[in-house]
Amino acid sequence: KKVLVLNGPNLNLLGTREPAQYGTTTLADVEAMCRQAGERLGYEVECFQSNWEGALIDKIHEYGRLWKQGGVLGCVFNPGALTHTSVALHDAIKGVDGLPVVECHISNVHAREAFRHHSFISPAAAGIVVGFGVQGYVIALEALARTQDADNP
Ligand code: DQA
Repeated sequence: KKVLVLNGPNLNLLGTREPAQYGTTTLADVEAMCRQAGERLGYEVECFQSNWEGALIDKIHEYGRLWKQGGVLGCVFNPGALTHTSVALHDAIKGVDGLPVVECHISNVHAREAFRHHSFISPAAAGIVVGFGVQGYVIALEALARTQDADNP
């Protein structure tokens, strides 16, 4: 099965962007970590990043269709700043109806500015991983894999 690791705006700048907040690991490094974790867990990881809201919505729709066909475990999604603004991304996740999405943030958004405390994504998410740095992506992948345990979903 496939897993989508989806990153939103400005996350292409990881590594050089506000390193005190987000560390020095690049997006390419994060994606390599995710592919490696996928191999270990037995899933094929696809990585996609866009600075465009509509491209993220299209990707969620695509994975929603694949999920209905049984070929997908779920999606790890760091929506970046769109977390705090995007009703459209909320609706996309709700709209595909079923695809499990784990919302992931590198920084602890709740320890930062008040405008980062609200998420439009959380009410549509299966779960949330916040504040564990780039390791959060791997934690989110493991969380998705463990929900496959039929006895303890
Ligand atoms: C972020 C937190 C958001 O508030 C911010 O706009 C980002 C990154 C994080 O991973 O910590 O772009 O999603």
